[in-house]
Amino acid sequence: MTPPVLQLKEVSMVYVKKAFLQKICVEAVTKVSLELRDNEILALVGETGCGKSTLGRIALGLLRPTSGKVLHLGTDIWDGNSRKSRFIGQIVHQDSYAALNPVRTVYQTLRAPLVRYGTKHKDVDEEIRKLLEFVGVTPPDYFLNKYPYHLSGGMRQRIVFARSIIPKPKFIVADEPISMIDPSLRLSILDLMMRLNEEFGTAFLYITHDLASARYLARRGRIAVMYLGEIVEMGNLQEVFEKAKHPYFQALLSVAPIPDPRAARKIRPLKLKNVELPKAGELPSGCRFHTRCPYARKICTEEPPRLREVEKDHWVACHLIEEVPKWTLALER
Ligand SMILES: Nc1ncnc2c1ncn2[C@@H]1O[C@H](COP(=O)(O)OP(=O)(O)OP(=O)(O)O)[C@@H](O)[C@H]1O
Ligand SMILES: [Mg+2]
Repeated sequence: MTPPVLQLKEVSMVYVKKAFLQKICVEAVTKVSLELRDNEILALVGETGCGKSTLGRIALGLLRPTSGKVLHLGTDIWDGNSRKSRFIGQIVHQDSYAALNPVRTVYQTLRAPLVRYGTKHKDVDEEIRKLLEFVGVTPPDYFLNKYPYHLSGGMRQRIVFARSIIPKPKFIVADEPISMIDPSLRLSILDLMMRLNEEFGTAFLYITHDLASARYLARRGRIAVMYLGEIVEMGNLQEVFEKAKHPYFQALLSVAPIPDPRAARKIRPLKLKNVELPKAGELPSGCRFHTRCPYARKICTEEPPRLREVEKDHWVACHLIEEVPKWTLALER
């Protein structure tokens, strides 16, 4: 059996910030284990500052974790002092303007990596046209000599995706790729990612705080929910959305907009004890969610819960899974 394209094993990242001669340690990611399987889409969701981008950069090998292992196709990429493996992943950021060189045309942007990754000079023009057609930048000839500032946000992001698939990556970390794009065009970028996944078999780690887009893109894949650097719920996306078990994810779902007004009327937002996020650098003991969790007990303040498999491919880190009302019941409260 071939190993997963990406495996994170108990990965932690501590940033050390210096402020007024003081050192502040920010535990951005704590002992996260997950895997991205071949051809799979995994959505990583969580609120701002919970460590999603840090985890994405660690997954790619752009950032060395403080502890834990990162495996690409079963090979430890940090075995020794430097990164060992060939680059098998690519990243797409939210800011396509910053990702593209402003003084390079679309043609130049795509030409350089094509040549670098082995396309013969005589085939380059044809390949660029094919790539542009594939990502929906049509007619290609019209766009070849355009600079990034000539293009809309959606078009720029399509060029970024076109460039990212040139090295034939095994996986792409897409970090909020649609958050700076006009809402009317977001769906088309998500569809483009699905086509890349279906036609090239590229796996995606899709980082977002938007539950609706996570649900759309990863509908046949899995989801991992992060809270303050830890994964609190993970599994098959449909299962996790329908049977959310962690109070944090239930709270997120209870405030997510629902298109059906009758169903929306039934939902009461899950009342948290506290709306404030604990400060980075002052993480709560035990379960990190206990300061906001309406069900928290003594054990939650003392012992960190382990991520355990409660149903097939459905993992939850909560001491009180048996006591937390079922999500369907939570809907009707
Ligand atoms: N280079 C850095 N130096 C110090 N602290 C950092 C650094 N990068 C991130 N952090 C801190 O680590 C924590 C996690 O940051 P990260 O950017 O990974 O979160 P995120 O989930 O991607 O947030 P957002 O949704 O806002 O993009 C935050 O508290 C952030 O302030
Ligand atoms: Mg981020």
